[in-house]
Amino acid sequence: MTPRLLLPMPGNAALASRLVENDTLELAAATFRHFPDGERYVRVDCDVAHRTVDILCSLAPADRHFLTLAFVADALRDLGAARVNLVAPYLGYLRQDARFQPGEAVTSRTFARLLGSVVDRLVTIDPHLHRFATLSDLYAIPAQAVASAPLVGAWIGQEIKAPLVIGPDAESEQWAREVARFAGAPYAVLSKQRLGDRDVQITAPDLTRYAGMTPVLVDDIGSSGRTILAAAGELRRHGFAAPTCVIVHALFTDDAMPLLANAGIRIASTDTVAHPTNQISVAGLLADALTAGFE
Ligand code: R5P
Repeated sequence: MTPRLLLPMPGNAALASRLVENDTLELAAATFRHFPDGERYVRVDCDVAHRTVDILCSLAPADRHFLTLAFVADALRDLGAARVNLVAPYLGYLRQDARFQPGEAVTSRTFARLLGSVVDRLVTIDPHLHRFATLSDLYAIPAQAVASAPLVGAWIGQEIKAPLVIGPDAESEQWAREVARFAGAPYAVLSKQRLGDRDVQITAPDLTRYAGMTPVLVDDIGSSGRTILAAAGELRRHGFAAPTCVIVHALFTDDAMPLLANAGIRIASTDTVAHPTNQISVAGLLADALTAGFE
């Protein structure tokens, strides 16, 4: 069988090299650069005629990548590719999924429409779905969500002694429950009140029955790091040691890592977004999704 072509966008080379260890995928070459005025240049450097091409592009941040993605997807079609898919280990623009304040743009919907006009299909890991139950409520193109919980849970089960999986807020319960199941551990969920982009308050329920266990915070996204920091502070008030924190999508802003390191918090993340904290690779999950029916 002819292998599928995997075309990594800039910044995705490390995960791409792990993915092509699977011999059903073959690396496609392309050139990406900017003209002196900042406009983008894209060139496809291999024969793609009649081939299925999976573009690998973690949309973190989406704004930086979207235009290049649109240019390369269009070029692939012009050059005769049979199908142009997007493998976006992190899919952006899912958090503004409602108009919370009058006049706000519901960017989840707009971005889904834009992305759907560019590629034929989409596969991603743990999309941050909250008010939309599934990707198909938002995306008109076929869109597949792959869960990282089996991988993350197994990692916790192997690496952490007597883990207590903790979700920092109600939204994270869906991940915490599944991760705990695969780790063979109990879980608890804290309550979060967000007061601003970098200002959160977290309160814990009664956790006395878990005394002596190792707290492991799990969340889908780490951004400013304030959720992790506040959750760790609250756990300390309840007599726990500094937690290990396992994040699926490590979007961390520049000031987040020093803050977390000063608080003695160890971070491990999956490689959906390339980051120094990456310890758990989703390459196997994505390769399986691509080879099992994602045409
Ligand atoms: C919330 O909806 C997410 O699951 C994360 O908890 C949140 O995005 C983390 O953001 P930050 O690191 O800025 O507190």
